Amino acid sequence: MAILDKHKILETNATLLLIFSFLVVTVGGLVQIVPLFYLENTIEEVDGMRPYTPLELTGRDIYIREGCYVCHSQMVRPMRDEVERYGHYSLAAESMYDHPFQWGSKRTGPDLARVGGRYSDAWHVDHLRDPQSVVPESVMPKYDYLERTLIDGEYVGDLMRTHRFVGVPYTDEMIENAVADFEAQTDPWGDTDGLIERYGENVNVRNFDGAPGISETDALIAYMQMLGTLVDFSTFTPDASR
Ligand code: HEC
Repeated sequence: MAILDKHKILETNATLLLIFSFLVVTVGGLVQIVPLFYLENTIEEVDGMRPYTPLELTGRDIYIREGCYVCHSQMVRPMRDEVERYGHYSLAAESMYDHPFQWGSKRTGPDLARVGGRYSDAWHVDHLRDPQSVVPESVMPKYDYLERTLIDGEYVGDLMRTHRFVGVPYTDEMIENAVADFEAQTDPWGDTDGLIERYGENVNVRNFDGAPGISETDALIAYMQMLGTLVDFSTFTPDASR
């Protein structure tokens, strides 16, 4: 065929092949990159996203410190098998307060982007203490020391200030009340008005680990029970023009 014969000229001449490959890659790159310069915002508008509470933010820090991301991604991809298993595919907006984001591409364990509300707090306590007690074939390590490590939120205000520095809209009031809100979220019988006013009605207020004192397990479970639950998908319409 004539067209293949012409292609043979390229395939037998290294310099020509190099030049044409470069052209193809350039066009492909431009097609992908140029439209982004004409978009004001690549993050869709959604209802419900809010900065993480001091306790959740602390839990997120523990999640990163313990390397949970080595085995768990936090991004449901828009493919049918994933959506059926995990729920609505992840939106960019859902990671907009994540510094750094936790998307990941390694899944030794399941994706955790929508794990919030899937299990009870007690399940999480058992699972963190001894994963094999609830999932016998699990290869997840034990994190029982987290429940023995009590924390007081001493530095959570600083952590929030750092996140504000990179764009998370924490207000002065949120930072001033960091420790109070940190404590309030684990005390269902305490005064939670301020916490709810600052972070919204759907904040989970519970003694997550069921034990006295605030432990790292409390913070980690508060974080996980929030994951994927913030966006109100009943009000979300995907915008095909983006
Ligand atoms: C060595 C890899 C590994 C590490 C590190 C790891 N996990 Fe897992 N995780 C797994 C595997 C495998 C499973 C599936 C079996 C099970 O449920 O235990 C799992 C399951 C889970 C589940 C249940 C998810 C679901 O939808 O059923 C949660 C929640 C979880 N892990 C949280 C964590 C947290 C939090 C950390 C860090 C403190 C962590 N994991 C660290 C491997 C890991």
